[in-house]
Amino acid sequence: MKAKIGILTLSDRASEGIYEDKSGVAIRGCLDEWIVSEREYFYEVIPDEFELIKQRLVFMTDELGCDLVLTTGGTGPALRDVTPEATEAVCEKMMPGFGEMMRSESLKYVPTAILSRQTAGIRKHCLIINLPGNPKAIRECLEPVFPAVPYCIDLIEGAYIQTDETKMKVFRPKQKKIS
Ligand code: MTE
Repeated sequence: MKAKIGILTLSDRASEGIYEDKSGVAIRGCLDEWIVSEREYFYEVIPDEFELIKQRLVFMTDELGCDLVLTTGGTGPALRDVTPEATEAVCEKMMPGFGEMMRSESLKYVPTAILSRQTAGIRKHCLIINLPGNPKAIRECLEPVFPAVPYCIDLIEGAYIQTDETKMKVFRPKQKKIS
């Protein structure tokens, strides 16, 4: 089964074309480097609007059938930053470990890492993960948590994601023997 991956960039300015979306491109760059199994990407850049973010997350999960959606931007304390709230609003289950690990790893790079309220959650067969908006933050956040992503998607009965183990070693517990 081909993995369907949504990339959703939340930025008022990028959505108006004031600057190009380097973060969405960086997400795809990391995934293309690590994943070797078949995959298809769906990509959108939208402004920081709560209802719109919810709508596009629901579209990517329910209509497109994405196994994984990565958002970038809108995780900070600014008035228009509402990505974590929109994520929580559409998820049935939150996965707080992702945000905790990304923040603590990010502290190695920036003292402002604690300003990101980034989180992750599950909607049906889809894992949604928030990343900060800075293009540099994409690899800094995604690399430490990605080893747990394919197994998480196995557990929610999504597509089987295989990586190039020399570039991204993922963790899957050994299959239990049935006696
Ligand atoms: N995390 C990493 N790894 N690298 C970064 O540059 N920027 C921080 C933080 N987390 C950053 C980071 C800053 S300055 C902010 S304000 C928050 O993420 C929120 O960013 P966002 O609103 O663009 O999502």
